[in-house]
Amino acid sequence: MCGIVGGVAERNISNILIEGLKRLEYRGYDSAGLALINGGHVLRERRVGKVANLEQAVIEAELTGSLGIAHTRWATHGKPTENNAHPHISGNVAVVHNGIIENFQELKDDLEALGYVFTSQTDTEVVAHLVNDALKSTPSLLEAVKQVVPQLKGAYALGIIHTDHPDELITVREGSPLVIGVGIGENFISSDQLALLPITNRFIYLEEGDIARLTRETIEVFVDGQLVNRPVKELDATVSNASKGEYKHYMLKEIYEQPEAIQQTISQALNGNALREDFLAQAEQDFASIQQVQIIACGTSYHAGMIAKYWFEQLIDVPCQVEIASEYRYRTPVIVNNTLYICISQSGETADTLAALRDTQKRAAAKALNICTMAICNVATSSMVRETHHSLLTLAGPEIGVASTKAFTTQLAALMLLILKIGQVKQSIAEKTVTEIIAELWHTPKVILDTLQHNPAILHLSELFVEKNHCLFLGRGTQFPIALEGALKLKEISYIHAEGYAAGELKHGPLALVDNEMPVVILAPKDDMLDKLKSNMEEVQARGGELFVFADEHSGIKTKERQHVVHIPSISAVLAPIVYSIPVQLLSYHVAVLRGTDVDQPRNLAKSVTVE
Ligand code: F6R
Repeated sequence: MCGIVGGVAERNISNILIEGLKRLEYRGYDSAGLALINGGHVLRERRVGKVANLEQAVIEAELTGSLGIAHTRWATHGKPTENNAHPHISGNVAVVHNGIIENFQELKDDLEALGYVFTSQTDTEVVAHLVNDALKSTPSLLEAVKQVVPQLKGAYALGIIHTDHPDELITVREGSPLVIGVGIGENFISSDQLALLPITNRFIYLEEGDIARLTRETIEVFVDGQLVNRPVKELDATVSNASKGEYKHYMLKEIYEQPEAIQQTISQALNGNALREDFLAQAEQDFASIQQVQIIACGTSYHAGMIAKYWFEQLIDVPCQVEIASEYRYRTPVIVNNTLYICISQSGETADTLAALRDTQKRAAAKALNICTMAICNVATSSMVRETHHSLLTLAGPEIGVASTKAFTTQLAALMLLILKIGQVKQSIAEKTVTEIIAELWHTPKVILDTLQHNPAILHLSELFVEKNHCLFLGRGTQFPIALEGALKLKEISYIHAEGYAAGELKHGPLALVDNEMPVVILAPKDDMLDKLKSNMEEVQARGGELFVFADEHSGIKTKERQHVVHIPSISAVLAPIVYSIPVQLLSYHVAVLRGTDVDQPRNLAKSVTVE
């Protein structure tokens, strides 16, 4: 998704802006640009493709300056071309923008009537012209931006500079993330703090509706024209630990980090084989009153929610619904009293999930309903964590690969901890069961480590996939969402068309697809459904399908003609979805590498989907 970096300093910041953009590359983008103010001029370079192209152009043009803005663009309005890349310029104003200006066409018509000429197809360019126009009535860049902001509809973040204001960077946050990096005698902005970590670990997290004016020495934040105080927060040094190390891709590194990430996530909540007394203690009263749960999430996080639904209902007898945020937010769902709303999100900034959360809160307040909201999230400073009553962090560390891996399995671990806690508060789970599940949770990192030992066998399976165009993933019970997740992983990074199905649905349609060209991946832990799943495998084999089976070592399923089996170490049925995530991640990873795709930044995708 689009990324913003900007700064005002005494030194040349062109290399800092480029480095910042590089650190945002993982989010996905298709073009990049940079503008600096120097000697009363706006100096700008923009390039289609990688930030390295822009870097080369900046070096060749010898662009320098101590005030500047830079951007990686992920096309929404207009193709990925140089003209559409940011920054956009009008007169002496340069603008970078994340998000969408929904009423841009009306604004564009008005501006064209005033004689402004548009050089791009973007919605952003209206902002540059509007600020330029507002400067006719005020010499202050800040005042001009304050006049423009109420005219803009949509969710956006902006960085704005002007040649007559060589020590001034104006920024706006309205529905799209923006942080200020606080330096000594220099200050920076970014849509993601990760971009600024080499320069500072002190941040101001702007809130929705904030307009800020940065100079080298000062930071002023305004809400509705009034100066407000936003605290400076110091970031834990471990957050900055994001490099590929010995691994070829971030995704592979992140797959291998899962034992530790899960250990970290569960350690915050556990004391031996019991939940810590202080774990979610502040939420106990809310948990006591809830009668059902509504989970809202997107993509992989939605799959985690689907598994939690099985757990909520089977383990603690609490009804649970789960829905994709982009549907939930628009279908006017009934808000029910005494419901716990859980948003699951790696980034905590996903536009659809945030919008669904905000809408739910607004509608519950309007009817004076008693609801409680909670974020399960990997980013402590995210909007979702800040805007919910309670939060439970997945301590996975930064996830850079676009395909979610360790964020997913830590979400599952966190959800299980939450379910045990709610079950205890509501006394709907036996203490013995809690103790047993906690013992299994502690054991999970080791089982994942042992599963990772099967990497060579999974690599071998992936070699048989390279030429395939389609694939089915089948599972039953909590393995059904893992089948969906396996299919999502395979399609997003290898571009092979894949579908996940509940194996019991096979006869109701997908069986028609099965022939000797159709690989079928089976998830077969040792659980109550194993015999039924074996029958489904027979159905596939009888139609000439080739089976790729991840099966419990004690399942009795063996390799034979057109049936390739990788044995997975035994794990309790309840936690099996965490462990069976690993082989499907590895399979997708290896297939993608063999097909030569951009594994960490697959085409058309972004890590943090901050627009609709
Ligand atoms: C797929 C993937 C996406 C995200 C989805 C939600 O591998 O990563 O499907 O899960 O975009 O993102 P978050 O969890 O940040 O809300």
